Amino acid sequence: MKSELSKKQSGGAVKFSSHIGFILATAGSAVGLGNIWRFPYLAAKYGGGAFLLVYIILAVTFGSAMIISEMSLGRMTGKSPVGAFEHFGTKPGFKLGGWLNAIIPMIIMPYYCAIGGWVIRYMVGFMAGTDKAMAKDSFFGSFISNSGSAEIWFLLFAACTIAVVAFGVNSGIERISTVMMPALLVLAIIIMIYSVTRPGAMAGVKYTLIPEFENFSLMTVVTAMGQMFYSLSIAMGILYTYGSYMKRDSNIETSAWQLELFDTAIALLATLMIIPGVFAFGDPSQLQAGPSLMFITMPKIFGSMGIGRVIGALFFIMVFFAALTSSISLMEPGVATIVQQFKTKRSTAVIIVAAELILVGTASALGYGVWSNVKIGGMQILDFLDFLSNSVMMPIAAIATCVLVAVIGVNKISKEVKISSKFIQEKLYSVVIRFVAPVLLAIIFISSVLNAIGIIHM
Ligand code: PHE
Repeated sequence: MKSELSKKQSGGAVKFSSHIGFILATAGSAVGLGNIWRFPYLAAKYGGGAFLLVYIILAVTFGSAMIISEMSLGRMTGKSPVGAFEHFGTKPGFKLGGWLNAIIPMIIMPYYCAIGGWVIRYMVGFMAGTDKAMAKDSFFGSFISNSGSAEIWFLLFAACTIAVVAFGVNSGIERISTVMMPALLVLAIIIMIYSVTRPGAMAGVKYTLIPEFENFSLMTVVTAMGQMFYSLSIAMGILYTYGSYMKRDSNIETSAWQLELFDTAIALLATLMIIPGVFAFGDPSQLQAGPSLMFITMPKIFGSMGIGRVIGALFFIMVFFAALTSSISLMEPGVATIVQQFKTKRSTAVIIVAAELILVGTASALGYGVWSNVKIGGMQILDFLDFLSNSVMMPIAAIATCVLVAVIGVNKISKEVKISSKFIQEKLYSVVIRFVAPVLLAIIFISSVLNAIGIIHM
């Protein structure tokens, strides 16, 4: 941390020390609860292989264009979103676009850490051998409504996040990602192999991989788009911030591909551990459980496996790694923004963001317990924060990035990409970012708001 501070004071900018460090940190951000928790149940609901296919097509076109834009803008300006937008102009529009991108992670971070607390609870429970109790139907509900324990586990997860960010970009974020991400991949492969080789699991593998076009609808596309955004950590200021720590000789276009590959591979591995597991040990209707799949269905599935306690422990360790590397990436943009905009020391910025994390996170953690009567727009606090950030602000922030690229000219981005490599997808990029992306983003925005107010059901 000292060396980073002194680099800052001498005007030298902090950078990830290697390309692989950058990729693993970025993948650490992308691979999170979205891959392990959300992707499998969405895939189960929206036509298995059909969902996967749509997801991949969207990721390599639309997703790539957004990633390339954010990373390039970050690297070009050396700034987090607010500074990056202001680099090109100081009119209110620029300020708004930057702040929108910067504030989203600060809204997501607290409730993400509340869920991270649940993950630690299950990880510890499985390691301590209390897995039988956790497989009971009522366990999850009574755990999250017990304010004292929800708060303690939340604080534990938040403390891990704060500690890593306090150590700085190299000694904290890069180092932890370099250890946890390869470990996560190995764990995912082990659990997946165990799950698909159980008797009866093959039906689940087929269900995951073979496209079922009867289950395919326009909603498949809209849902896949929303999931892709969340999963690749787009429109959250993160890729700007991490891009600003990227060295000039790192290839931006291949970074985007590597990121998509890693993220999609883990989503697929998670799906292949969960869906076949449910086919083998439960019944396929459990896949409709939606969000409760990970905390209620999975412990039951582990309960019926021969070595379920071990597999369950490995599973929750993996989820913990995924969640922690994501939550640190949610904290870093806020810290970087405060340092850059208010010229504070990094340690001051860490304290400010940590205070916000603890305050708002406590509200989210208690939202199922003593504060369960507190509703905003009819939603629990955690659900409201999720709705506000993901459904309302994120598409707008992404549109702001598209507009910024259009205003400064696609050429500026091309030039930045070409500093370190050829730009193979240049033509595709230019069309997608200016025309396709804004339209798709408007569709995501409108449909998710209509869904939230109950006019359509996604
Ligand atoms: N991309 C992460 C996931 O898939 C979630 C995340 C959201 C991470 C927002 C950082 C920021 O879970």
